[in-house]
Amino acid sequence: MERKQEIMTRIYKAKDYQDLGRKAANIISAQIIMKPDCVLGLATGSSPLSTYEQLIKWYEKGDLDFSEVISINLDEYKGLAPDDPRSYRYYMNKHLFKHVNIDMEKTFVPDGLEPDSEKACRDYNFLIRSCGGIDLQLLGLGHNGHIGFNEPGEAFEKETHCVNLTESTIEANRRFFTSYDKVPKQAYTIGIKNIMQAEKILVIVSGADKAGILDSVLHGPITPKIPASILQLHNDVTFVADEAALGNLSF
Ligand code: GLP
Repeated sequence: MERKQEIMTRIYKAKDYQDLGRKAANIISAQIIMKPDCVLGLATGSSPLSTYEQLIKWYEKGDLDFSEVISINLDEYKGLAPDDPRSYRYYMNKHLFKHVNIDMEKTFVPDGLEPDSEKACRDYNFLIRSCGGIDLQLLGLGHNGHIGFNEPGEAFEKETHCVNLTESTIEANRRFFTSYDKVPKQAYTIGIKNIMQAEKILVIVSGADKAGILDSVLHGPITPKIPASILQLHNDVTFVADEAALGNLSF
């Protein structure tokens, strides 16, 4: 008997940011336990911090083993070195990798120092394919609906590419830099096509300032103007959002 493929979007409400971290970490842990050599698509930003803290705690307790896990990060600023504290490679080392038993050789972030954009993106697409694709993709949500660094207006069918960051993204990320001028204006990001090919997707959203965009992502039209709206078409997406981000949403 043929099984009907159904689109499945789950929305879990977390009390607060810590609770969000626990719930998201539970889903990631389940993935690692079910498939120890899974490919995790990982994200940076403020949203995943409590999730990574929880994963580290469970690893320290002996409940989680990262030794066979492969990680593929979403994005990286073009021009930043791995040891630059503002780079996403540095962030991942600091907030997760150096605290768990992941094999650093199996952790991947786009090469911010590769000046040839075509090469950087081609290599990353090749990497994703050679790992057999992403089992679970973790995503944060940008204020303008971006995922990874897929900014509004870009084609859904893109794979890894070099993007010109929008004003709103540069503004949102300037808190990590001394001034607006210091924020890199370009980044390498895996594309919507790569994200949509992941087996499962986990989106974490925190804070009242994301309530409006979350509502549009979940209930608005599917449009490149709001990149995350395409997730409505993925057949295994879980949103974990705190009460502030869920606002008055009914679900
Ligand atoms: C950044 C990152 C995204 C991240 C998003 C939200 O620009 N490139 O991957 O998900 O913005 O960030 P935050 O979680 O800090 O709100």
